[in-house]
Amino acid sequence: SFFAGTDPCWLTPATKQPVLRAEVSVDSADPLADTVRAELDLLRQAAGAADAAPDGVREILLCTLDRLGRTPVGRDLADAVHAAVPRAGLGAEGFVVVRRGERLVIAAGAGRGLLYGWYHLLRQAAPLAATTGADHTEAHRPACAVRMVNQWDNMAVHPVMGSVERGYAGRSFFYRDGRVVADLSRVRDYARLLASVGINALSVNNVNVHATETRLLTDHLPDLARIADVLREHGITTYLSVSYAAPIELGGLDTADPREQRVARWWAEAVERVYSAIPDLGGFVVKADSENRPGPFTYGADHADGANLLARALRPHGGTVYWRCFVYDCHQDWRDRSTDRARAAYDHFVPLDGRFDDNVVLQVKYGPLDFQVREAVSPLIGALRHTRVALELQITQEYTGQQRHICYLGPLWTEILGFDTTGAGGPTIGDIASGRAGRPTGGVVAVSNVGDDANWTGHKLAQANLFAYGRLAWDPLASPDEVLAEWARATFAVDAATLAELTALMSGSLRTYEKYTAPLGVGFMVTPHTHYGPSVNGYEYSPWGTYHFADRDGVGVDRTVASGSGYTAQYPEPLASRYEDPASCPDELLLFFHHVPYSHVLRSGRTVIQHIYDTHFDGCDEVEDLVRRWSAIADRFDAATRRNVDERLAEQLRCAREWRDQVNTYFFRMSGVPDAEGRTIHR
Ligand code: GCU
Repeated sequence: SFFAGTDPCWLTPATKQPVLRAEVSVDSADPLADTVRAELDLLRQAAGAADAAPDGVREILLCTLDRLGRTPVGRDLADAVHAAVPRAGLGAEGFVVVRRGERLVIAAGAGRGLLYGWYHLLRQAAPLAATTGADHTEAHRPACAVRMVNQWDNMAVHPVMGSVERGYAGRSFFYRDGRVVADLSRVRDYARLLASVGINALSVNNVNVHATETRLLTDHLPDLARIADVLREHGITTYLSVSYAAPIELGGLDTADPREQRVARWWAEAVERVYSAIPDLGGFVVKADSENRPGPFTYGADHADGANLLARALRPHGGTVYWRCFVYDCHQDWRDRSTDRARAAYDHFVPLDGRFDDNVVLQVKYGPLDFQVREAVSPLIGALRHTRVALELQITQEYTGQQRHICYLGPLWTEILGFDTTGAGGPTIGDIASGRAGRPTGGVVAVSNVGDDANWTGHKLAQANLFAYGRLAWDPLASPDEVLAEWARATFAVDAATLAELTALMSGSLRTYEKYTAPLGVGFMVTPHTHYGPSVNGYEYSPWGTYHFADRDGVGVDRTVASGSGYTAQYPEPLASRYEDPASCPDELLLFFHHVPYSHVLRSGRTVIQHIYDTHFDGCDEVEDLVRRWSAIADRFDAATRRNVDERLAEQLRCAREWRDQVNTYFFRMSGVPDAEGRTIHR
């Protein structure tokens, strides 16, 4: 069947009718053309017979350019297709769409482009195929060459982190009881979803590689190869997370010192075996010297030594190592004011710039702390000039409501991708990730939000985040609202007014979430470990770092050069000065960079304390509004969606009230300043 017992998300057959009204053919010798043909057949079976097109497109041809001459599309149309190809060509992943009257051609340079052209057609089904539209030409090529998703799936259920680390949608559908599942049909459906939004790389296991998963490199290779076979059919390259200490854990060596010959030899042989099982493996993802994972520091070596060790083993096979930069001291002492977790990644990696092999990519989280709804953009990404960098995002809503809250992340990613790393004309993060900045790049990576729940993401509306990640990695300049509208149209067979109301209520949900949680970029204030719900002092004395330093007079983290940790100096000018001075620091980041009195007047004209009260009351009101607006349209959706969103919204409202009251009460007790509007703050 179309999606074996699960939700087809935005591939919903009912919204694809306009395509099926035309006669569709596929002409290409590329193996991925078979995937397109199979998808077409599946869709036809699922959607049933469509009425003939009364007008509009009657014939759709999907082909690779090499077939164009041999396919009976007519000379004019063939010429128009060639003329539509941009001067830089289509590469392996680009495609053009050319419509002339009743005929539409989607032509690609190679198999992946064909697959992406097919899914473009499905997303744009109505406008492309159904109307009596005029002649039409489009050309598409992805901005970022690597668009990767990281699964944080464990093979064996971890006693604390469970089946999927930071997973909020059930268990892993890759693994069960310490093994790869026998039936990979769910993995196949996932690969279809990923391919349909242009994802071309997937790492298949958690970056925290525990004992069982370490053996993916050895005992489980045939199973890993089965996964890679499925992913390959959908244009997705497989990556593996490995443990830096594998030579000890698997090889029985007494060291993993990157400078030891026998360690290098062990890796070369291990990699050789992996590639004989999966000749087109993309490479490895590595979390080393990070949150108690093993790494080169144990041997007095640095991260260039460590990353290059793996890179050299991968090089003969064309593989790449994605080496994560989430390296900081997670055993810090809150009494020690000289340690600032935000500084750590830059301090560790900038001095090594230029020493990494060119098949090393440094994978950097978008912020210097940890996937907060609001934090400064990492200065490391802009600072690395001679090393390939990948931007790391988090689709799973660890700190953004854990798929119980509606939180559409598109606007956050757009802001990050558009962030000007110098504050004076670029490059932006998007320029760096896409290679437009002229620096070596490794693309974009994001942590997945799926599990074995029937709707994949726990919250039905969280499907939009997976969709948006793929679309924004393809085109960082796309509008997050348009992407959201595209998702909604493809997902729900409901009328246009309902779609507009749904997207309107989702579009601002990120800012709503920001309002009722931690204020002005100070971050965290979450329950330790689970990271769900408020705990203002949850991390205040924590060895993991991240403090807000609230006292009776004020709040915020002093990261200035003048009197704080000096973090602001990690940015180039004029950005550094802008952040250093509270008068020019953007309001929304004020407490990320400065410790200020509650009476400090923001650029908005409000005091800090009044801002805290106002945003918490407003944020909660906005959630009440979400509930009202959703109830007004809920009955137009299918029963499963209705039930799911109703139930999650009730929890979101409960939790938002808890956030509002705990944060307001805490700061009222600290400051003694009443709310200027006299609203209820519990004593
Ligand atoms: C966060 C998250 C961890 C995860 C880590 C990482 O800290 O809470 O579960 O392992 O990020 O990105 O490695």
